[in-house]
Amino acid sequence: MPVRHFLRDDDLTAQEQRTILDRARALKADPFSDRCLDGPHVVAVLFDKQTLRTQVSFTAAIAHLGGFPMVIDGKLANVGVRESIADTARVLGREAVAIVWRTYGQERIDEMAAYAGVPVVNALTDSFHPCQILADLMTIEEHKGDLPGLTLGYVGDGANNMAQSYLLGGALAGLHVRIGTPAAYQPDVAILARAHEIAAARGGSVLVTDDPVAAVADADAVATDTWVSMGMEGESATRKGSASPFAPYAVTSELMTAASRDAIFLHCLPAYRGFEVAPEVIDGPASVVWDESENRLHAQKAVLSWLREQQLAQDCR
Ligand code: NVA
Repeated sequence: MPVRHFLRDDDLTAQEQRTILDRARALKADPFSDRCLDGPHVVAVLFDKQTLRTQVSFTAAIAHLGGFPMVIDGKLANVGVRESIADTARVLGREAVAIVWRTYGQERIDEMAAYAGVPVVNALTDSFHPCQILADLMTIEEHKGDLPGLTLGYVGDGANNMAQSYLLGGALAGLHVRIGTPAAYQPDVAILARAHEIAAARGGSVLVTDDPVAAVADADAVATDTWVSMGMEGESATRKGSASPFAPYAVTSELMTAASRDAIFLHCLPAYRGFEVAPEVIDGPASVVWDESENRLHAQKAVLSWLREQQLAQDCR
């Protein structure tokens, strides 16, 4: 059996996603009940991009599980330049029981996983942010109940990691996932096709539209994200300027009136008030962004615990 990783949302089956969400909920209720990293076992946590929530939540998660978070500044390690990704993976895999990596191209983390010999977790790449989507699903469930059949409307950059992870992870959970984005910022064609395939099997659906109102119409949850993802800073003037293509997709009080009357608002943060979201929405009664942020901790503990369990079961074979 190959080592299990969490590199993209659909690395999990729907049942496995359910198991992890249930475990996250249990760990939120009883934070120190799982000591699967007791030793302490070391988890390597590398950052090639900026971080606040991810470093904090993975550090806390690993500590809660009884392990030691070995946080590595990507600028110092300079993975892929100073040393190849494959060699880095082999070194880390000898001393850590899991590797968590925030980096740029998805092919970088795929290569890390191919050589590590231990589970690798995607802490955000240009293509996906699967840990965030688990936290979001947990948050939606806490506020709206059973996930299958609920509608999530995301508006903004449809080609970024959050949009693409909502497509896969949301479809896996049985949601109706709608993406409202300009025609020039569509999700990757293969990812969209995969989301349609998952949705068909799970009883949900997927829609990509350039109409922001259609994207959030009667939605149970409305989500957005920065218009300038990490690595896109060079396009900041176009993306955030006065003629921003995303301006019609800003989540304002008016756009929220198109959603379900008691819709919740999600944002993975950091948020830029006055751009992708109006202050009165993110700081208003519909906003659940602080629950969402906290749930990163619980969801990631569940991911690490589940991966450790898979790894130990394999080592015993
Ligand atoms: N799309 C954003 C998410 C930040 C958590 C980015 O990649 O910068």
